[in-house]
Amino acid sequence: MNRAIFDIQPVHRFGGSNTTIRRPKEIACFSYDDQRRFSLGDASLSYYYPPRLPADLNVGFDTFQKLNDVADEHLDALLDTIMAHEKETEKTCEADIVTWRGMMTKILAAPYDMMNGFEMNATCFQGTIFIEENNAYKNQQKETQRNQRMPAGMASQELMMYWGYKFEAISVLRQQWDPSSREEIERREEAVVNNSAQYCSVARTGMGNVRMILGGEVDAVWDCKPDRKEDPVHWIELKTSAEIRNDRDMVKYERKLLKFWAQSFLLGVPRIIVGFRDQNGIVRSLEELETASIPGKVKKVGRGTWDGNICINFAAAFLEWLKQTIQEDGTWRIRKQEKSPVIEVFKLEEQGHGDILSPAFTSWRSAR
Ligand code: A3P
Ligand code: MG
Ligand code: MG
Repeated sequence: MNRAIFDIQPVHRFGGSNTTIRRPKEIACFSYDDQRRFSLGDASLSYYYPPRLPADLNVGFDTFQKLNDVADEHLDALLDTIMAHEKETEKTCEADIVTWRGMMTKILAAPYDMMNGFEMNATCFQGTIFIEENNAYKNQQKETQRNQRMPAGMASQELMMYWGYKFEAISVLRQQWDPSSREEIERREEAVVNNSAQYCSVARTGMGNVRMILGGEVDAVWDCKPDRKEDPVHWIELKTSAEIRNDRDMVKYERKLLKFWAQSFLLGVPRIIVGFRDQNGIVRSLEELETASIPGKVKKVGRGTWDGNICINFAAAFLEWLKQTIQEDGTWRIRKQEKSPVIEVFKLEEQGHGDILSPAFTSWRSAR
């Protein structure tokens, strides 16, 4: 079969009790440093320490060291980390799907995100489906976003993006809090913002009958990582959002919460810290959200613009279908067009794995 379609709409058919979910558990991690150099382990782990308010997120925009992420990194860092983990444990990481968390966020949010599109590439290797973002599509979307005309008086897309990174920079410490290093709190407010450094968690999780390994960035940890590997980690996701002034803002925020929730839920990040900023990029208040409580709040006290159960049941059904659809050799495109109510899956190449899998990974696995 060369082309298949999965209907997103009508979403109410995914209602009812939840599909079983496996609590995400970190199996390995990797870091990028300020020069974007990769290393295994937690060198770039950050620790949350609340920012001083009010905070001006514009500070340092002129010296922002922005990562050039135009090049296609495929799944390389994730595969290198899995490979190292397999060498260390002498066990194969069995999974139905291996991908970046960002891809799964798009799928989880799809029932309530009719407007946006996505494009991914996939291949099947030794019974596992590997999914990457279609980099060309991502770059094209970024370009469109950059060229978007903003209403008069509104900050540019570039500046608003900086606000997000600046908020992260003034909310974390690179070392665990030590009362004798109070200066670091002041230092971080003046430090040059560089978004190359990242800590990425590689977690095993699952929905229904689909076992997954996901890799994704985690902004910080609340306290520190526990000594016992079995214990959950108190991860923190940092977000900025516009202050809520009226009903319309509230609906907008609730829609944004879908993305916050999906992103954090997938890696088992239990808490999200939202910095509310005004139109000029000044943060005046913070809100701590428990990830698990977000869908309930949206349903009961919010406007009910989305339903987390439906997202989970939809994602589980789609992934089970994908498992049946992508079983042969070759490469595939997974695509949702803007405003489309369906996800299409079609073949790009009959043979091989395209550039989705690195030669190092395929030769390692083939030799086992
Ligand atoms: P905000 O989410 O506070 O706006 P993340 O929150 O996922 O860790 O991402 C950190 C910051 O990167 C975001 O902060 C935002 O500034 C920027 N960012 C992430 N994804 C983006 C996207 N798709 N478009 C524009 N900026 C993005
Ligand atoms: Mg982040
Ligand atoms: Mg963040």
